[in-house]
Amino acid sequence: MANQAGLEKINGNFKGKDILDANQFSKKDIDIVLKTAERMKKIVLEKGGTDILKGKIMTAMFFEPSSRTFGSFVAAMQRLGGGFIPLQGMGNTSAGKGESFEDTVQTFTSYSDVIVIRHPEVGSVAKAAEVTSLPVINAGDGIGEHPTQALYDLFTIKDELGRLENLHLAFFGELARYRPVNSLAKLLAVYPKIKLSFISPPQVTMNPKTREYLRERKVPIFESDKIEDILPEIDVLYVTRVKKEFMSEELYKKIQGKYIVDMKLVNKMKRKSVIMHPLPRIGEITTEVDADPRAVYLRSQMRNGLYVRMALLALVLGKIK
Ligand code: NCD
Repeated sequence: MANQAGLEKINGNFKGKDILDANQFSKKDIDIVLKTAERMKKIVLEKGGTDILKGKIMTAMFFEPSSRTFGSFVAAMQRLGGGFIPLQGMGNTSAGKGESFEDTVQTFTSYSDVIVIRHPEVGSVAKAAEVTSLPVINAGDGIGEHPTQALYDLFTIKDELGRLENLHLAFFGELARYRPVNSLAKLLAVYPKIKLSFISPPQVTMNPKTREYLRERKVPIFESDKIEDILPEIDVLYVTRVKKEFMSEELYKKIQGKYIVDMKLVNKMKRKSVIMHPLPRIGEITTEVDADPRAVYLRSQMRNGLYVRMALLALVLGKIK
């Protein structure tokens, strides 16, 4: 969308809108996404797909590595009957010859109906939205936001625990540069009786902008470098990867491998709770945890990304109400 770079609220109407930041979503907007994703899940399980996006094309423009986000957006578009231009790693496009980001965005505007972008700079996806008339979806901008991840995290929590209010969720690991944390914390702020704990090494505590956002909305937050005391109380343990690509080698060496979830920790959690991770994991959760019924990162969380991204594509392209 031209000129409205991202701050535009969804306000019940997704058609033509950019999805850039979690703060665009009210509780009602989130409900629409989750309900639509539920419908998508049914369609996929019953028939594999539909053709509501026949004749539509998505450009997936990824300036950073990706497995799940890229793969699920491409699969989502295909299961909706649409086509796609897969740009994974921009080195083979004219961006590799030095073409500007803005010109690249305008180029693919000529060929498609929606653009999904991942980029290492905060605000870059909003910048793209300023130069194209197409809806733009943020698939991760630097250490900023990852709203589609957070939406399917909510879908997963609701599916597993049956509610989104009255929850204690603990983010665990590197939090300063981990964009899904910013987006999920902001989305959860719309629900009543939410408590958020941020457990991290002292060098990588939560993003100050996110802390400020939660304080303004009076969401109770607890920050510590130790998880043990709160393990018996939490409903969701949300584990993160150390974002090596966004920090110095020296800092990486200090914190990598220090925060690990193993069965010793998991055994202190409630029976009805969930362990989540956006993935990839680089050793933060030992593989023995994978078989625990509370571990959803491999079992359902990433699959839910497909349903939620199908819902978002259909909604911004105005093909579903
Ligand atoms: C995350 C991301 O890109 O922010 N990955 C994802 O989309 N599931 C997390 C990460 O990079 O570790």
